[in-house]
Amino acid sequence: MRSTYCGAVTRADIDQTVTLCGWAHRRRDHGGVIFIDLRDREGTVQVVIDPSNPGAFKVAEEVRAEYVLKVTGRVRARPEGTENPNMATGEVEVLTNGLEVLNPSATPPFQLDDENLSENVRLTYRYLDLRRPVMQRHMRLRYRVAKLMRDHLDGSGFIELETPMLTRSTPEGARDYLVPSRVHEGMFYALPQSPQLFKQLLMVSGFDRYFQITKCFRDEDLRADRQPEFTQVDLEMSFVEEDDVMNLVEGMIRETFEAAIGAELPDPFPRLPYAEAMARYGSDKPDLRVTLELTELTDAMRDVEFKVFSGPANDPKGRVAALRVPGGAGLTRGEIDAYTEFVKIYGARGLAWIKVNEMARGRDGLQSPIVKNLHDEALAAILVRTAARDGDLIFFGADSARVVNDALGALRARIGHEKGYLDGRAWAPLWVVDFPMFEWNEDEQRWDALHHPFTSPKDGHEDYLGSDPGAALSKAYDMVLNGWEVGGGSIRIHREAVQEKVFAALDIGEEERRGKFGFLLDALKFGAPPHGGLAFGLDRLVALMAGAESIRDVIAFPKTQRANDLMTQAPNVVDERQLRELHIRLRQKAQ
Ligand code: AMO
Ligand code: AMP
Repeated sequence: MRSTYCGAVTRADIDQTVTLCGWAHRRRDHGGVIFIDLRDREGTVQVVIDPSNPGAFKVAEEVRAEYVLKVTGRVRARPEGTENPNMATGEVEVLTNGLEVLNPSATPPFQLDDENLSENVRLTYRYLDLRRPVMQRHMRLRYRVAKLMRDHLDGSGFIELETPMLTRSTPEGARDYLVPSRVHEGMFYALPQSPQLFKQLLMVSGFDRYFQITKCFRDEDLRADRQPEFTQVDLEMSFVEEDDVMNLVEGMIRETFEAAIGAELPDPFPRLPYAEAMARYGSDKPDLRVTLELTELTDAMRDVEFKVFSGPANDPKGRVAALRVPGGAGLTRGEIDAYTEFVKIYGARGLAWIKVNEMARGRDGLQSPIVKNLHDEALAAILVRTAARDGDLIFFGADSARVVNDALGALRARIGHEKGYLDGRAWAPLWVVDFPMFEWNEDEQRWDALHHPFTSPKDGHEDYLGSDPGAALSKAYDMVLNGWEVGGGSIRIHREAVQEKVFAALDIGEEERRGKFGFLLDALKFGAPPHGGLAFGLDRLVALMAGAESIRDVIAFPKTQRANDLMTQAPNVVDERQLRELHIRLRQKAQ
C-alpha cells in the first residue's frame, strides 16, 4: 500500500511522489491550509493539504486524532524558516494529491504526547500507549537485545531448547502459579519459576551448551523490577568452573551493551565477595556509582551505656554500623526526619546521627541526640573509623545485621542519588561472589538456600554442610549493574551424595526429596557431568539500557503492582462449568 515509511522521508526524496500510511498524530488548520503530522513506527512527517486539491481537502477536514490514513503526494523542501530541527523529517513535507481515510478512530482516551499520563490509563489502553514513540523505541530495543544475546550464544556453540511450562515446582524462593489438571482430579501443574531443573537434566543428556529466552512465573511481592511473569535469558554449560561461565557471559553483556546502545562497560567487571558487599554497602546488589560507604562499629560499641547500640553489639546476629555523609551537617531536621521515616520501611527503629560541626572543640563540637551516652573511646572510634571531618553528618544503624544492612543500604543509595554522591560513571557493573550457601529463616527457625538448593558448595566447604551450614560458601555469582541484580547463576551439584547433604541441611526430609526431586536425584546417578550456568533478567537489562524506571516500561503487556492486567482484566472469574471440569469448588469467602 505504501512506498516508504513516514519517518524515513528525507531530503533525498524531494520531488519524488511517495505513498505513506499511518496515523494522524496531530492536525492543524492554518486558515485554508491543513497540516497533518502523519506517524508510523519509523517516525512522523508533515503532510500538507491545500485547498487547490478540493477532494483531499474535504477529507482532511474530517480527519481527527489517530485516524488511519493513506497519503499520496510530492515531497518538497519546507519553506525557509519553517524547518523543524527537532524532527528527523523536519526539513521536508509532503504536498498531498490523494488522501484516503483507511479507518477512522474513536477519540483516544488520552493524548499520545501527554507527558503526565497515569500508568493505570496507559495499561488499560496499552495498545494505544504502545503507539507512543518512546514505547516503540523500548520494544525495538528489547527485540534487539534479545537478538544480540541469542546470536552471541549461537556463535558460542549454544543451542536453544524449550522446556515445559506445565511442570512440577522449581524452587527459586517464590510461590508457584498453579494450573489445575482436568484429567487428574485434585492435581496441579506448576508454572516454572525458572527452567533450572530441566536445564540441568539437559546437561545430563549431553547437550553441553543450552540456552533459552523464556518466560518464568513467580508469585511474589511486585516492585519496579519485578513482574509475576518475566523473561530470562537462561543458559547452562557442561565441564565448566565459575570463571568459564562468568567470562563468557561477561563478554556477552559487554558486546550487547556496545552494540545496542553504544555503552562501554569495563573489562573485566570487578568482583566483590558477598561478605564485603554487605560490610561496605549493606547490600548484595550495591550501586557502585554511589560513593558513600558503611563503617563497621559493632566491636567498638559493646560496652557503651547507650542500650540501643550495646544491645545489638553484643548479639551474635547484631550489627552497629555508620554511614558518613561528607558535608552532610547542612541537612535540615526535616530531612533527617524524612530519612528516619524512610529507614523504618526496612524495619529500623530509629536513625541516630551526629553532626560533626567542629572536632577541635571536642564533644562541644558535635551535635547529636546520642553522644552523651557514648564514652570517649567509642566516640573516638566512630570519628576515626568513619574518617570524619568537620561539616560531616554520620548516621547510625543498630539492630540485627539484616535490618541494619537493609536500612543503611537503602539509605546509602537514596542519599547518594538524591544528594549527588556519585562517581560520574554511567555504568557500574560487578560480580558478587562467595555467597553463603544458606541463610537463616528466623520465622521458621531453619536454613533456606540463599540461591537455590542445587548450588554447589565451594571446594572444601562440603564438610560445613552438616556441622556449620552458616559457614558454608557456594559457587554462586550474581551480576549487578547500577544497583540492580541483572543475572545470577552458579556451578551446580553434580554428585548425588552432595545433593543429599544439601537437602539434609535444608531439612528437606527423605520423603519430600523423593517426592519433589526424585527425578533429579535419579538423573545425578547416571553420569551427570560437572555443570553450571546462569540466567539474566532480560526485562531488567532492557530497562537499564532504556533508562526506564520500571521493567513495566519495557514489557509490551505488563501487570500492575497487584498482578492485574488492566487491559484484559486478568485475573478474572471463570464459569461454574469450567470449575466443575477442573474438580474445583471455591471456598466460601470469609465474612
Ligand atoms: P534468579 O532467581 O536469580 O536465578 O533469576 C535470574 C534473574 O532473573 C531476574 N528476575 C526477575 N525479573 C523480573 N521479575 C522477577 N520477578 C524476577 N525474578 C528474577 C533477575 C535475576 O537475576 N535458575 C536461576 C539461574 C541459575 O542459577 O542459572 C534463577 O532463576 O534479573
Ligand atoms: P532514643 O534513645 O529512643 O531517644 O533514640 C536516640 C536516637 O537514636 C534517635 O535519633 C533515634 O532515632 C536513634 N535510634 C533509636 N533506635 C535506633 C536503632 N535501632 N538504630 C539506630 N538509631 C536508633
